[in-house]
Amino acid sequence: MENLKLILVIGGTGAQGRPVVKALSESGRYSVRLLTRNPASDQAKELAALPNVTLLQGSQDSQKDLHAAFTGVYGAWVNLDGFTIGEKSEIFYGIRAYEIARHHGVKHYVFANIDYALRKAGWDEQYHCGHNDAKGRVGDLILSHGQSTMKTSLLTTGPYMDMLYDGMFVPKEQADGSFVWENPASDGKIPLIALDDIGVYSLWMFDNPSESAGLDLEVATDQVSFAEIAETFTRVTGKKGVHKCVSLEEYLVKAELYPGAYSNWAVKPDVPRDESFMTWRENFSSWWRYWSEGKGATRDMAFLDRIHASRIPSLEAWMRVKSYDGRPQSVLKDLHELRKNQGP
Ligand SMILES: *[C@@H]1O[C@H](CO)[C@@H](O)[C@H](O)[C@H]1NC(C)=O
Ligand SMILES: *[C@@H]1O[C@H](CO)[C@@H](O)[C@H](O)[C@H]1NC(C)=O
Repeated sequence: MENLKLILVIGGTGAQGRPVVKALSESGRYSVRLLTRNPASDQAKELAALPNVTLLQGSQDSQKDLHAAFTGVYGAWVNLDGFTIGEKSEIFYGIRAYEIARHHGVKHYVFANIDYALRKAGWDEQYHCGHNDAKGRVGDLILSHGQSTMKTSLLTTGPYMDMLYDGMFVPKEQADGSFVWENPASDGKIPLIALDDIGVYSLWMFDNPSESAGLDLEVATDQVSFAEIAETFTRVTGKKGVHKCVSLEEYLVKAELYPGAYSNWAVKPDVPRDESFMTWRENFSSWWRYWSEGKGATRDMAFLDRIHASRIPSLEAWMRVKSYDGRPQSVLKDLHELRKNQGP
């Protein structure tokens, strides 16, 4: 009676992957094979308890494990962890995962992508952002092979709206009760995506292959500048929100973890990298430039309304639904694990 299509999910325990696994499981149309390095982690155990979700232990940077993972699946949702493996490995394994999927005759491959910042900014090296560009290059390659034997779709996200809770977009509460975002953001619009809506878009792709094949679906919940974030915060909470723009130099000096830190500083910080690795400074400079100058504000909001009619419609709606109050909460997995391993 049941005829569930099996979807391999890579990156399923991450902030973006969890809602995808949940949406696939809840639909009753798919079963999920979740590739995870650590089946004993809290996130993996929580997901394994959902209907029709099974865990497969393995690493996204092992070709043997990728072969095992793609064997016998109908579809795949693939989000590589570039933060951990670095730009060079992310490109290599991004391509290998795709090739191995083709070898195993996968029917629909959804690649979790991010804006190819360097290309979208007109090849100006100031915008070369390692993590974005690694995914963007692989995304372009995947779509370039056409749709005849395997359907391919890109789910292109930008910064998470949830980073207002965790990571780079958390404001600082001041003694006078106001909340200040002090950062180098220019006045462009940033396409923020609420993690709560990622699952629906991913499900839509698998449910509608004739529409999603060959599509680069750039998603966002709202495209807003930092001034608008602060204004919206004030409107929703009644507390004063302020965006204080500081120079990149001033920001980096304060925010850098240690001088000369690598962009993937969390992973074995003492091991030297080769020159392809960006430093934390390089990565964040281009990251802030690209997003805050509005270069990613290219989302087609009317199209998103059509394919996800009940989506969270705006930053304001998101803040109201979440009862957002400007105070931090743990959302991102890398930070979560780091805190667990290193203390607060
Ligand atoms: C899917 O989950 C439902 C509910 O837990 C269960 O009854 C069903 O047997 C599962 N199907 C497969 C193919 O495992
Ligand atoms: C660069 O910074 C962005 C923004 O925080 C992050 O998502 C990305 O993982 C970083 N890149 C690398 C290679 O660490």
